[in-house]
Amino acid sequence: MLPGDPGVHELLTRGRIEVEGRLVDASNATLFCAITLDGVSAQCVYKPVSGERPLWDFPDGTLAGREVAAHLISAAAGFDVVPTTVLRPGPFGSGMVQLWVDTREDDELVDIVAEADVPQGWRAVLRAHDRYGDPAVLVHADHPRMRMMAAFDVVANNADRKGGHVLHAPDGRVFGVDHGICLHAEDKLRTVLWGWSREELPPEAVEALERLRVELTGELGETLHDHLTRAEVRALAERTDKLLASGRYPEPSSEWPAIPWPAF
Ligand SMILES: Nc1ncnc2c1ncn2[C@@H]1O[C@H](COP(=O)(O)OP(=O)(O)O)[C@@H](O)[C@H]1O
Ligand SMILES: [Mg+2]
Repeated sequence: MLPGDPGVHELLTRGRIEVEGRLVDASNATLFCAITLDGVSAQCVYKPVSGERPLWDFPDGTLAGREVAAHLISAAAGFDVVPTTVLRPGPFGSGMVQLWVDTREDDELVDIVAEADVPQGWRAVLRAHDRYGDPAVLVHADHPRMRMMAAFDVVANNADRKGGHVLHAPDGRVFGVDHGICLHAEDKLRTVLWGWSREELPPEAVEALERLRVELTGELGETLHDHLTRAEVRALAERTDKLLASGRYPEPSSEWPAIPWPAF
């Protein structure tokens, strides 16, 4: 099943979850599962709230709730960069359940390469040196779906857009995962996707931002209050207004680390 397929939401909400393994590089309890409803199966990620490590800088709500909020925002505004994500009971209690997105083998959209090997058309984000002292560059592709993701990250205030959180699906779509530390009221944008800094937003991103602004005054705004504080929902609207007013991708701040570390 792919994000957007009819029945995905129903399957994730009502399906029977069977835990198959734990994602090893994950910092919280992140479980890989099969989910089945009426003979239809898919793979998913299940992150129980009970497995969350408390974070001093995100004291309100739950990480699972923030992941669901990120999906709701992406879907309602039409960014379409977060796989379907729901909050529901599971084998270890309430948690977030997200559709698994298959990825292309050896087809990363974010990479670290030697200066001479920057792929044509890619954007360089950071120059450093590898462990042998040779110049290395953090680069990312220039893909229209990634431009949408970068605009989404600004308003979602994503504090953790690592390279490994950008997934390239076999059908060419690009999805982001791990939105547990998003949507704080204070600016915390930390991302590897700085390649369009100061450039104009593409028209489809502007359209999504305008739609988000409208949706926030309606049902989306109401639903987000289940997962976020009043101040956080207000700050989301303010970030959206600010990005629409500037019409350009922002520059990294000098006040906090702008690139997540490790970057993958
Ligand atoms: N919905 C998904 N589809 C495909 N791969 C995923 C999905 N969610 C997570 N992953 C993979 O699992 C890794 C760990 O998941 P992540 O959400 O980053 O957990 P944690 O919050 O513990 O860091 C991700 O870096 C990504 O490679
Ligand atoms: Mg992660």
